[in-house]
Amino acid sequence: MNIKKEEKCRSQDFQTSQAFVMLCVMTLFLPVIRTSKINIPRLKLPYKELLLSNSCIPFMGSAEGLDFQTLLLDEERGRLLLGAKDHIFLLSLVDLNKNFKKIYWPAAKERVELCKLAGKDAQTECANFIRVLQPYNRTHIYACGTGAFHPICGYIDLGIHKEDVTFKLDTHNLESGRLKCPFDPHQPFASVMTDEYLYAGTASDFLGKDTAFTRSLGPSHDHHYIRTDISEHYWLNGAKFIGTFPIPDTYNPDDDKIYFFFRESSQDGTTSDKTVLSRVGRVCKFSNRGEYGVL
Ligand SMILES: *[C@@H]1O[C@H](CO)[C@@H](O)[C@H](O)[C@H]1NC(C)=O
Repeated sequence: MNIKKEEKCRSQDFQTSQAFVMLCVMTLFLPVIRTSKINIPRLKLPYKELLLSNSCIPFMGSAEGLDFQTLLLDEERGRLLLGAKDHIFLLSLVDLNKNFKKIYWPAAKERVELCKLAGKDAQTECANFIRVLQPYNRTHIYACGTGAFHPICGYIDLGIHKEDVTFKLDTHNLESGRLKCPFDPHQPFASVMTDEYLYAGTASDFLGKDTAFTRSLGPSHDHHYIRTDISEHYWLNGAKFIGTFPIPDTYNPDDDKIYFFFRESSQDGTTSDKTVLSRVGRVCKFSNRGEYGVL
């Protein structure tokens, strides 16, 4: 097996004096997929058939905010958050269409104008497409949108009580969404929140060329970014992110890893070589002391 980009994960011997939390990534599996291969789904569920079999309930209240890309299911409290174009919906699992709430969160007007001037499509690109909905703490959800090619993030207050849900975006504390959310609403992207840290596999620039694994947020007194290295030949080569999951693989919670599933172009061949590789990246979590550096 051809293993590249390997860095040893250091864990127990971490020292504060080194002022480092290391982000180390190891590529695990490298089966080769040819892009020309046609993917045939193993199972197909036509929408009409689902309706006829009474096994799906259409959500009717979304006329203004189509283009759903992000879901957050909170089974415990029986609710579902939906990220759409310029809107976030809060639905009850008991009846999706009854008493649902919504937040209208458009991109800033000047951003929409700039986005159009840059040659992007007014309808399908120059709006705030919600790409991140992650549980931050007991009361708040962290949300990010593309903001008409100028990503923005913020906290949504859901309150503590199930009966008395607030559902408000804290518009006074909006933050930049760069390195947390892609600029392009259609770019493949993956994120996960764990221990108040947001891990993302995302493009960090307008052109969507510089792809990286990033870590941001964290406990409120301690917000920092770390990301995989930028080099002449980007460390990740045009990665297309699929999903990311925290997976414990030892009994020590400090040693848990975040796994990123993605595809990227082969760096070995010439530019005409369009080989696409399936990859799994592993990012080590370390105890959150000291300052952060980038490995
Ligand atoms: C959750 O995070 C938000 C945003 O930082 C903060 O305002 C709120 O007080 C926190 N809630 C709890 C229960 O810690």
